[in-house]
Amino acid sequence: MTAEGIVLVTGGSRGIGAATAALLAGQGRKVVIVDIAPEPLAETQTILWPASFDVASESAVVRGIAEIEATHGPITRLVNAAGVFGKMHKIERVRMEQWDREVNIDLRGTFLVARSVGVKMAERRHGAIVNVASVAGMTSGPIHAYTAAKAGVIQITQTLAAEWGRSGVRVNAVSPGFTRTAALEAGIASGALHKKWLESPTAMNRLVEPIEVAQAIAWLLSPMSSGVTGINLPVDAGYIAGTTWAAYGGLPEAPGT
Ligand SMILES: NC(=O)c1ccc[n+]([C@@H]2O[C@H](COP(=O)([O-])OP(=O)(O)OC[C@H]3O[C@@H](n4cnc5c(N)ncnc54)[C@H](O)[C@@H]3O)[C@@H](O)[C@H]2O)c1
Repeated sequence: MTAEGIVLVTGGSRGIGAATAALLAGQGRKVVIVDIAPEPLAETQTILWPASFDVASESAVVRGIAEIEATHGPITRLVNAAGVFGKMHKIERVRMEQWDREVNIDLRGTFLVARSVGVKMAERRHGAIVNVASVAGMTSGPIHAYTAAKAGVIQITQTLAAEWGRSGVRVNAVSPGFTRTAALEAGIASGALHKKWLESPTAMNRLVEPIEVAQAIAWLLSPMSSGVTGINLPVDAGYIAGTTWAAYGGLPEAPGT
């Protein structure tokens, strides 16, 4: 598979990025992970880019992508999984430094890495990119910068798909629902989030597992989705389908429960 180039996963040391990198490496792909806090993935064949890689820094991204390609070969698949969660605040308390941090990493960072990698893919007439957005970008919540940044990720996914469609590069997004990563578990442990409130609006009454998001990403990177570009695929255990049922008295329980 290495003759096909490499897969680059940003935010690959933890959570959804780590699950995706491990899955793709297990399928025989040469996977390089980058992260602002780089840590190797134990018991996987993934390759850690050892230097800290900040997706929000234009100069660091341009330099880093050039060095990675010089060292490991052309990037033919990209997963933009680096991100930070939104801080929950009443609108009066939104601090603009926090707004800038979330928008800079989640939206600007996704654009910077997609542009650096995608322009080269387009020149080579071959490539696939998946951006990790969120159901938060499709709904509303008291995470003002995060929802706007993720809506922006969904938007730039369409624009980049149109930009490079004639050059053989596909660009898609996945929108995870509440996904059981260490970051989410920490939010539950701190009391900022309540597991029951995260689960009960979903049709399936549960959190999403990181591997389930990884499997959707792997499909969007593979020839199995060769006719698909510019979409945003929710992987949300039915959060979007189920969340409006509260207005009608709630979702039905399974028979016999
Ligand atoms: N877990 C969820 O419930 C959920 C739901 C919807 C969307 N998402 C999105 O999925 C993506 C991954 O989230 P996760 O839950 O796996 O979180 P996570 O914190 O486990 O992983 C995110 C990774 O990104 C890295 N990172 C942070 N800032 C960076 C930067 N500036 N440059 C490079 N790397 C950076 C972190 O070090 C970390 O390894 C994020 O974009 C997040 O918004 C998560």
